[in-house]
Amino acid sequence: MQRLNDVHELRRWREQVRREECLVGFVPTMGALHAGHASLLERSSRECERTLLSIFVNPLQFNDPQDFARYPQTLEADLEIAARTGVDAVFLGRRDDLYPAGFQSFVEPRGCALPLEGEHRQGHFAGVATIVLKLLSLAQADRAYFGEKDWQQLQVVRALVLDFHLECEIVPCATLRESDGLALSSRNTRLDPAARRNALAISRALGAAARAYAGGARDRARLEAEMQRVLSQTRSVEVEYAVVADAQTLEPWAGPPRAPRALIAARVGGVRLIDNAALDEPPVGPLEL
Ligand code: PAF
Repeated sequence: MQRLNDVHELRRWREQVRREECLVGFVPTMGALHAGHASLLERSSRECERTLLSIFVNPLQFNDPQDFARYPQTLEADLEIAARTGVDAVFLGRRDDLYPAGFQSFVEPRGCALPLEGEHRQGHFAGVATIVLKLLSLAQADRAYFGEKDWQQLQVVRALVLDFHLECEIVPCATLRESDGLALSSRNTRLDPAARRNALAISRALGAAARAYAGGARDRARLEAEMQRVLSQTRSVEVEYAVVADAQTLEPWAGPPRAPRALIAARVGGVRLIDNAALDEPPVGPLEL
């Protein structure tokens, strides 16, 4: 596995792979890799001839400086996971390289970037879209793999690729969950045992909405009330939003035939968690609980 320490080395690697005419898969991350990332990397390694991983904790997408400062950094463990999952090259992003003095151009996504996370984390998606545009331009990958846990981010990235005519297929990958339903997230390591237990209210609420939908409920207010009912059973969960939105536009769901997505953001034990589920697909795995 090759380590690419700056943009220049990444470009050189990409040139060489282009000469070999290999299909390239790309998994952009902020490190602190877990089994969810590993599944993206394994899928890329299975489907592509070369897999590129990037690790860069992008300061631009953190609206809260404390959240940025506390973001887990586990480089050695990340490199082990990368080697185990068949990664060919890992780009280790550096702030002074990706945002050198004088950096002045930013992507300002609108549409599906405006509600929910857009409202609660001012500037977050501008940071995400700016770094993703930079990384996709550098990686020139045939495919890039994104987790569905960040559902709204996935829609923002899809729009970005369309709007800027980027030639990269965005491959959505299903959320991985612990056996009790908790969605895998790098932030889970910051949950103490009590918060870890309380955080289950989030996946329970999504499961309740999915069951209500499967039982015939099509009224957005009723589905959202069902989520609130479950969330309110755990007092230490501070809900930021628990909504049923249009899966693509992220606007309030207007009913069939548009696809409904249930999305929740909540603080548990000082840690902000997000999760989501499709309502028009039968709940699978731990969400059946
Ligand atoms: O999902 C993430 O880890 C980040 O938002 C991404 C896409 C790597 C951009 O920094």
